Amino acid sequence: MKHFSASTPMFFNPRLHPRAWLLACGCLILTYIVATLTGGFTLSPAKRLTSQKDLLNDVFNATLGFQKILVIGLPSRTDRRDSMSLAAAFSGLQVEYVDGVTQVDNKTLPPGGVERGIDGGSLFAWRAHMNALRLIVEQNLTSALVLEDDIDWDIRIKAQMKEFARAARLLVQPLPHTREQYLDPTYPSPSADQGYQSFDVNEHATSDPTDSPYGDISRWDLLWLGHCGCRFPLASDLNVPLGRAVIANDDTVPEHQHLDMEYGNDELLRQYPPHTRVVSRARVNTCSLAYAISQPGARRFLYELGVHKMSDPNDIMFRYVCDGVDDRQLATCLTFQPQLFQHHRPVGAKAGFSDIADHGDGFNDRAFTRNVRWSVRLNFANLVSGSANYTDSFPDGGRKVHFPDG
Ligand SMILES: *[C@@H]1O[C@H](CO)[C@@H](O)[C@H](O)[C@H]1NC(C)=O
Ligand SMILES: *[C@@H]1O[C@H](CO)[C@@H](O)[C@H](O)[C@H]1NC(C)=O
Ligand SMILES: *[C@@H]1O[C@H](CO)[C@@H](O)[C@H](O)[C@H]1NC(C)=O
Ligand SMILES: *[C@@H]1O[C@H](CO)[C@@H](O)[C@H](O)[C@H]1NC(C)=O
Repeated sequence: MKHFSASTPMFFNPRLHPRAWLLACGCLILTYIVATLTGGFTLSPAKRLTSQKDLLNDVFNATLGFQKILVIGLPSRTDRRDSMSLAAAFSGLQVEYVDGVTQVDNKTLPPGGVERGIDGGSLFAWRAHMNALRLIVEQNLTSALVLEDDIDWDIRIKAQMKEFARAARLLVQPLPHTREQYLDPTYPSPSADQGYQSFDVNEHATSDPTDSPYGDISRWDLLWLGHCGCRFPLASDLNVPLGRAVIANDDTVPEHQHLDMEYGNDELLRQYPPHTRVVSRARVNTCSLAYAISQPGARRFLYELGVHKMSDPNDIMFRYVCDGVDDRQLATCLTFQPQLFQHHRPVGAKAGFSDIADHGDGFNDRAFTRNVRWSVRLNFANLVSGSANYTDSFPDGGRKVHFPDG
């Protein structure tokens, strides 16, 4: 408090009026409080740094840095809840179930739904996802991860999500110390003559988000983390930035021969070395298996799919909103190639793969999960026994494994 000494004599002048004394004391106390507070701020870079680091490290919490993880499925599929709860427990995750439905009244469909004649299964999937979105809106969750109940992931999911968060930030957060300048020159949308650039997560930085590890909640709607194939955005799309955030040398990515791009294209395999994962704006083909959604995103999708109109099956409508087509307002959707979440196909009758889609009468005699190396579900026996000798479904150098359809 040495710097106050210059003014000290005044405060000890005994001839001051009592009111002046009161005022002087008040000023002193106020000055002290302000000094302490500002001192607190100026002394806090270290503290602020840790709080920022903590936000990224929130991806390691029980809800992967979102406010909740919601799992959609029919209560009757107890088999799926058993294995989902096990997978979550072994991954240090906390999930909440949202009941799927097997009945939808035609009266509840948004405009176009009845005329479009969307069939039973697609309709049930739509309603289940709308129920999840509505819960997020009603509970005012800042963000949530929504999973279908047969989804699988890698034992290292938390570390993967940290890399995803670092990459996502490069595409949505402004550069350090700026408000509206971005790393990607095609942000917010490219001109016809611009091409894409790849940005290595280890070579770039942005300003830190303040309310979500994945970028400020106001800057993204949907993170499409589990899908059945996608492509990178093209300059000819015109309406989304082309930037790609690249995670190189990621051991959790299977080598090219093992990757199944499903309904997407193979640009990832042609343009990047093995063990690379890339985040970009989403141009997903199909499947809304797993996505994280922000509060603004949940409101947007509930409006678009639940209120505005029903033009197609659920996952196709998700795609329309992310693509900004079909008279839908464009959402900010990011995706990962290869994806982090995938259907798991257990041993058993293929009919059990889905309650809403027909997978035929065949029998699947070998459990599998595409594109996931240390599958949690395929490692249940190891996890239960405490063995860290995990089964790698796609060892480096191994030959391509063929899976049945479905
Ligand atoms: C996880 O982190 C997110 C983001 O900071 C936060 O909203 C959420 O409450 C945290 N969840 C848990 C279970 O700690
Ligand atoms: C609901 O609409 C579909 C498609 O138009 C139709 O096949 C079905 O019979 C309708 N169901 C009821 C209960 O009206
Ligand atoms: C919802 O959450 C936001 C941000 O956390 C907050 O500003 C808003 O007041 C909340 N709304 C309600 C109705 O609680
Ligand atoms: C790890 O598991 C593999 C395959 O299950 C087995 O061949 C190998 O001997 C095991 N290694 C150790 C150290 O237990």
